[in-house]
Amino acid sequence: MLDLPHLRTVLSEHYDLSPSTEVAQELADTYARMERVVTPPDWAIYAPYVKAINALKKERNAVILGHNYMTPEIFHGVSDFVGDSLQIAMKAQEVDADVIVQAGVHFMAETTKILCPEKTVLMPDMDAGCSLAESITADGIEEMRAKYPGAPVVTYVNTTADVKAASDICCTSSNALQIVNAMESDTVIMTPDQYLAQNVANQSHKNVVYWPGSCIVHEQYTAQDLREFREWNPGTRLIAHPECPPDVVAEADFSGSTSGILKYVTDEKPEKAMLITECSMASNIADQLPEVDFVGPCNMCPYMKKISLEKILWVLHTGENEVFVDPEIGKKARASVQAMIDMSRNLGL
Ligand code: 13P
Ligand code: SF4
Repeated sequence: MLDLPHLRTVLSEHYDLSPSTEVAQELADTYARMERVVTPPDWAIYAPYVKAINALKKERNAVILGHNYMTPEIFHGVSDFVGDSLQIAMKAQEVDADVIVQAGVHFMAETTKILCPEKTVLMPDMDAGCSLAESITADGIEEMRAKYPGAPVVTYVNTTADVKAASDICCTSSNALQIVNAMESDTVIMTPDQYLAQNVANQSHKNVVYWPGSCIVHEQYTAQDLREFREWNPGTRLIAHPECPPDVVAEADFSGSTSGILKYVTDEKPEKAMLITECSMASNIADQLPEVDFVGPCNMCPYMKKISLEKILWVLHTGENEVFVDPEIGKKARASVQAMIDMSRNLGL
């Protein structure tokens, strides 16, 4: 666990991190990407961290990979590449850097390390987990294989390296349907997200059997919430992530991964949109889509929200929180992740 008071004392000895309207003004171009969602006083607090992190990245030959659920000051302020789980995994392989800081959760950093074993991968907070990754171990995969002999195992990237290593191929929410459909067997095992699996099953001709895991952010939404919201706010486009239960997805106008959501809203430009997903998703795209009014409640991921500018600066400064994957497990896990990436490239995803 990070010792925050100690971290603050050390950082203040090396960087001037006090709120500054001068630094905020200096970084006005960066602020322009988030001014709809970040207030000027908050920007004056963030800007000195953004400046320090971006300078340190150059010194360390480091890049930051930011998931779409990062808060706007991380997403727009310091991330070199942003996207959904598939996009950032694919980017990890392409970047020319010695150090990668994963602005996301632990399974994402592990995936990066699996794909780039020669690079130093740093996690701003090792406790940034995921309810899906915690729901299954490699024994669970063996249990499913024993129950459905011969069926291939398609495993969501939201899992540990051990679980990926025990699987045949990985998927993300942006390629799950295509990957399941491409399996030769009629029965396909999907782990560990029961709702993603059920949503895929509803669109696929395969017999999809699944593990009972779920995302604590998306499982909270109910179809009744969506119906009430529609009644209360007519004309709003409801856009759900496929980690939501199937009756929620059925009630929505569109369902897709975080990059699918961005594409849909960019193409359609609805007057009002409610994103049935993690809160930062709407905040991060609000400034590039000024014509869309993002309305309605959202749910916060407590794991994603463990990542902060302060912790990013800390790991870049100290090199602490390096992510390691056992080389043997890493090799097997890499085969599952690479199979997914290759299939996604072949399918043009
Ligand atoms: P995607 O960005 O792949 O849609 O994943 C959502 C998610 O919950 C990641 O933790
Ligand atoms: Fe895991 Fe859900 Fe948080 Fe994504 S949003 S990291 S799936 S708990």
